[in-house]
Amino acid sequence: MTSTASAPAKVILFGEHFVVYGVRALLCAIDKRITATSKTIDEKKIRIISEIGSVEVPLGSPESDHRTARFMRPFLYVTRRALKESGEKRGIEMKLESEIPPGMGLGSSSAACVAATASVTGLFGRKPAEEVLRRAIEAERIIFEDASGADSSVSALGGLVSYSKDRIEKMGSRNDLSLIIANSRQVHSTREEVLKVREFKRKNEKLFSQMCADESAIVEAALGALEKNDLREIGLLMSKNQKLLEKIGVSTPKLDALVGAASKTSYGSKITGAGGGGCTISLVDKTNTEQTLESLRKVGDCFVAKIDFEGLRYL
Ligand code: PMV
Repeated sequence: MTSTASAPAKVILFGEHFVVYGVRALLCAIDKRITATSKTIDEKKIRIISEIGSVEVPLGSPESDHRTARFMRPFLYVTRRALKESGEKRGIEMKLESEIPPGMGLGSSSAACVAATASVTGLFGRKPAEEVLRRAIEAERIIFEDASGADSSVSALGGLVSYSKDRIEKMGSRNDLSLIIANSRQVHSTREEVLKVREFKRKNEKLFSQMCADESAIVEAALGALEKNDLREIGLLMSKNQKLLEKIGVSTPKLDALVGAASKTSYGSKITGAGGGGCTISLVDKTNTEQTLESLRKVGDCFVAKIDFEGLRYL
C-alpha cells in the first residue's frame, strides 16, 4: 500500500519583516514542489528517506529522541500519529523528493510537513487540505515553536494568501504572474534577521513607525494592482518594498547585485523572505523573461516560477 502527496514552495511578494509589527504580508505558492511517498513495510520500523538525510527508528521508540536530526522530527511525529490513529501494526517508510532548494526562504520545510502529513495519513484515508494543514502546523511547531503557519497555509491552500499576525486569508485573485527566483546561495537565519530588524527599530522608533506606514500603503496598493493585473504597478511596488528592506539592513551585497541585475529589464525586483541571503524575486512576462534571466545568470542561479493555484495535491 502506498500513498503519495505533494505540496508547493512559497515566496513572500510583499510585507516580510514589517508583518512582525502588524503590517499585512502577501504570499503566494509557486510551482516547485516537495513530494512525499509513504508505504507500509513489514519491518517494525519508521524509515524516512530524503536527499538531505535519512532516519530509521524502531516502532514504539520514545518520541523525544534527541539523537534524531531536528528537521526529521516533524516527519516522525506525523507518522507516529497516523500509526496510532489507524491501529496499523506494520512499519512505514516515507520518501521525500524535493524541487525546492532548502534553507533559502522558499518554505521547503513547511511544504515538506504538508506533503508528509497528507501522504502518511492518506495511507489510511485521505483527509481534506484544512485538516492536513492543522496537523502539518503542529508538526512544524515541534522544531519551530514560533512558526506562524503562514508558509504551511499557502503551501496547503495554494494561490495567493494575505497574512497578518492574527489572520490568514486565501485571496480570490488568479493572477498568472511569472517570477524569476534567483538564489544568492547565502544560507540565512530568519531569526537573526528578525533580531537585526528589532534592533534597527529600537534605535529608530520614529523612522520605523513611518516605514511601517509606508509598507502598509505598498501592500494596499499591491492588492489593487494585483486585482487589475497591472504588472508595471506591481513591479514598481516591489522595487519600493525593496528600498525599505535595504533601509532596515536585511539586504547583502549579493542580494543587491541580484536585484540590480534584474532591475534593468524586469518590472521590479526584491528580496523574498528574511534576507541576509536566500532568494530574490523579479516580476517578468514573456517580453522580458529571457533578458532578465541572462543578466541574473551572470550573478547567480535562477529559475522561472509561476503561481501554483492547487496547493496540496494527492497523486
Ligand atoms: O525567511 P522566510 O521566507 O521564512 O521569511 C520570514 C519572514 C519574516 O517576516 C522575516 C519573519 C516572519 O516570521 O514573518
